[in-house]
Amino acid sequence: MKIELPDAEATTRLGQAIAPLLAPGDSVLLYGPLGMGKSTLARGLVRALTTPGEDVPSPTFTLVQFYESDPPVAHFDLYRLTRPEEAFEIGLDEALDEGCAVIEWPERLGEEPGRFLGPDQLTVTISEQGEGRLATVSGVGRWKELIDHVRF
Ligand SMILES: Nc1ncnc2c1ncn2[C@@H]1O[C@H](COP(=O)(O)OP(=O)(O)OP(=O)(O)O)[C@@H](O)[C@H]1O
Ligand SMILES: [Mg+2]
Repeated sequence: MKIELPDAEATTRLGQAIAPLLAPGDSVLLYGPLGMGKSTLARGLVRALTTPGEDVPSPTFTLVQFYESDPPVAHFDLYRLTRPEEAFEIGLDEALDEGCAVIEWPERLGEEPGRFLGPDQLTVTISEQGEGRLATVSGVGRWKELIDHVRF
């Protein structure tokens, strides 16, 4: 499925549209080169699940931020991950046991990202399109069906 994102506000709205469908165990994988809008989408998603006004800091240096929302959500930015196994050390598997995870730079999980994730995955690949962006969205596991319920 392709979704046009003419401006940053649209990227935020796509994150907001995914949020209410999330359940514990779900992974949202955000692919796309530097500056494509992965953090913008992740922030829209996290803000839709957390209390209005709650601080949503960037996980650029901490690699992960955890939120006690319903469902709990963990926002990972793996850009600075040094090796795939470090994902366990920063709590990716625990995050998916308890809640859902939105993951920037899933490429850092190596050739087989699936070994760190559960069966239910939504993949969003963001690319440039004119002044805006194009999101290519696909799902596996329960997201194969759920993708049609994203109300954007
Ligand atoms: N659909 C869009 N159209 C135009 N600009 C956008 C769109 N979505 C996001 N942006 C802008 O792109 C810039 C980079 O956004 P963001 O930081 O979210 O990217 P990123 O993919 O997380 O980058 P990084 O790879 O450094 O983590 C911001 O200025 C943001 O406002
Ligand atoms: Mg980012």
